[in-house]
Amino acid sequence: MENKNRFDISLLWRIIKLAAPYKVVFFFSAALAVLLAPVSVARPRLVQEMVDEYIFKNDVPGMTKIAMVILGVLILETVLRYLFIYATNWMGQSVIRDLRVRVFKHIINLKTRYFDTTAIGTSTTRTISDVETINTVFSQGGFTIIADLLTIFFVLGVMLTTSWQLTLICLTTMPFLIGATYIFKEKVKKSFQRVRKEIQRMNGFLQERITGMKVVQIFNAEEEEMKNFKDINREYTQANLDAILYYAIFFPVVEIISAASLGLMIWWGARGVLDDVVSLGALIAFPLYLSMMFRPIRMLADKFNTLQMGMVASERVFKLIDNDAKIPNDGTLEKGKLSGSVKFDNVSFAYNDVDFVLKNLSFEIKPNETLAIVGSTGSGKSTIINLLNRFYDAQKGDILIDGKSIKEYNIQNLRSCLAIVLQDVFLFGGSVLENITLRDDTISREQVIEASKMIGAHEFIEKLPGGYDYEVMERGATLSMGQRQLISFVRALVFDPDILILDEATSSIDPETESIIQYAIEKLIAKRTSIIIAHRLSTIRHANNIMVLEKGKLQEFGSHQMLLEIENGHYRELHEMQFLELSE
Ligand SMILES: Nc1ncnc2c1ncn2[C@@H]1O[C@H](COP(=O)(O)OP(=O)(O)OP(=O)(O)O)[C@@H](O)[C@H]1O
Ligand SMILES: [Mg+2]
Repeated sequence: MENKNRFDISLLWRIIKLAAPYKVVFFFSAALAVLLAPVSVARPRLVQEMVDEYIFKNDVPGMTKIAMVILGVLILETVLRYLFIYATNWMGQSVIRDLRVRVFKHIINLKTRYFDTTAIGTSTTRTISDVETINTVFSQGGFTIIADLLTIFFVLGVMLTTSWQLTLICLTTMPFLIGATYIFKEKVKKSFQRVRKEIQRMNGFLQERITGMKVVQIFNAEEEEMKNFKDINREYTQANLDAILYYAIFFPVVEIISAASLGLMIWWGARGVLDDVVSLGALIAFPLYLSMMFRPIRMLADKFNTLQMGMVASERVFKLIDNDAKIPNDGTLEKGKLSGSVKFDNVSFAYNDVDFVLKNLSFEIKPNETLAIVGSTGSGKSTIINLLNRFYDAQKGDILIDGKSIKEYNIQNLRSCLAIVLQDVFLFGGSVLENITLRDDTISREQVIEASKMIGAHEFIEKLPGGYDYEVMERGATLSMGQRQLISFVRALVFDPDILILDEATSSIDPETESIIQYAIEKLIAKRTSIIIAHRLSTIRHANNIMVLEKGKLQEFGSHQMLLEIENGHYRELHEMQFLELSE
């Protein structure tokens, strides 16, 4: 896509429309762009006038007057230029500030499936650097290109009316300049694309390695990773150097071409002055015109590239925004107090529409009862949770809460009546308290402490430096697994859900923590409907019902006693195995 050399008007139009809230500044900038061209061309024109009309005629007062006018024009140009740069950049910054919010707002509402299939780096790149690039469309691309083109147009006009012969002489080098500019533009574009690609590679590499540093170090893979990094680093440097090389060639080439133009012009112009075809004023003003024409031409190549890069970036950002992979949220049922019955009615589900992970699953949980789900790894246990809180929607069948399909509930209401403790606890950077309340102001510190005491987490939290204000590192890296688990239990309890869902961590913990966690779980599930994906017998035995899941199918369902009585039953086998372990 990056290599497509296209200039898409409808895309440009859509970018421009981003500035709609800043109409005034937009038109102000446009007006400035138009004004700047004649104002900047006026200066050399006035110099020419001064030489021909006043200096030659020895008109000192007239000369002073026109010198003042030139000064005035210069000041005017400076002010206009300042306003122009500030206005265009202000607009660019405002547009991308709004856009960042829009992108994040969109990402935050996307389906879980989007995150399954999109690298984290992609989403961050869209929100940060791609959006940043769109800024350049406003600050360097659009209006400055218009201003530059207008300047060239005006200069050319003034040159032609002053002396068409001199103008033609100057233009003889133009084909070389245009040729050089075109080649440069293409080369630089390619190397900038490479630079961007390498930056992305390096970002992705670093992000992953730093998160997984423990694995790198445990497996002594430092040297190997160092080598990988050096490779990427080398490519990155090379891409940058290539881009610099083109600049290093292009700028001197332009200098030479413009010097050649100048030389030709003076050679011919001097004779013209002698022959009285060209005025001296014109000869003095022409070098100024020339530099005024060459500078924008030299910059145009760059600016056009910038504009194009901005458009490519915007195309990607728009693609993300247009991606309508949100979970449909057209349910209208308000939550109210639920009694908390849950029913899976013949549910079949595949993450990828082909490999069904759950197959014709039906079961029911009565209000305030606890269902334990057991089954081997990959059998679809966590998937049940993903469906219940609508991270995904099942292809077949229906899920009912209090007798109503979960699709009839507004998603936010649905989720607010569920509390889920996930298998891998995720903690954010912030205090323990904030991690429990998730910055919900309606939950007081006292409530948190009360819940912690009830769960049995208060003791360990108190002991942390700073207690409830202890700053948790990103991902909770400085806390133990058991501690993280307990914090997530408190989180679930303070939200006082109608239905509690718990995906027990598989990791084994010491008997003491085990008993604390067991106690916490009992507190959590008391007086509410609960689904527990359990790995510990102690947890399972307290459940009203146990469901054995195998390869997405319900195999056994019933109370502990009932399941134990099944000859060659799966649960019975599991039970015996765990008992063996315990008695060893
Ligand atoms: N986001 C996903 N995208 C695609 N496939 C997935 C996704 N999550 C899980 N799967 C697949 O679905 C199947 C069931 O996964 P699930 O997480 O429900 O297992 P589980 O019973 O919770 O296992 P465990 O006991 O190890 O937690 C697995 O084969 C897994 O590979
Ligand atoms: Mg799981």
